[in-house]
Amino acid sequence: MITEEQKKLLNEQFSLINTDGIAFTALFYSRLFERNPELHTMFRSKMSEQYAKFIGMLPLIIQGMNNPIEIMPIVLEMGESHKRYGVVAHYWHIVQEIFIGVADEKLPEHCNEETRQACAAFGFMSEIMEA
Ligand code: HEM
Repeated sequence: MITEEQKKLLNEQFSLINTDGIAFTALFYSRLFERNPELHTMFRSKMSEQYAKFIGMLPLIIQGMNNPIEIMPIVLEMGESHKRYGVVAHYWHIVQEIFIGVADEKLPEHCNEETRQACAAFGFMSEIMEA
């Protein structure tokens, strides 16, 4: 569970990411592929479309983290689709690390210990999806 304070901080962080969402996500994916080139072939759609899908889904998950039952159908569906793409458990941790790194770089004044811990709550997704 994340605290109310962490949720508030994350929401602020996401509204900032959204104001510059494409630049943020483009940097996120270029870092991901630069450091893990083997993941590139899994992505078959247009990357510009993928940016929008990824950034659109994140706040939904964060909002739902304190109410897992509400978002369970979405998470399970994503779990199934991601398994089909060939996503395995440790990829979640790779994605999480890169995400935190880019947030640190692009929004340093909003990245503190509190938000880092909340970002670590992304492990929540991987746990459910691995189940
Ligand atoms: C919090 C983490 C993540 C979010 C919010 C997210 C979100 C999404 C969404 C919304 C889609 C499109 C809809 C769908 O297929 O379900 C998608 C597709 C995809 N995701 Fe993720 N994802 C996450 C983590 C990951 C991870 C860890 C990987 C592994 C590298 C990954 C790889 C992919 C791939 C390969 C596709 C298909 C792309 C294509 O069609 O070309 N995702 N993701």
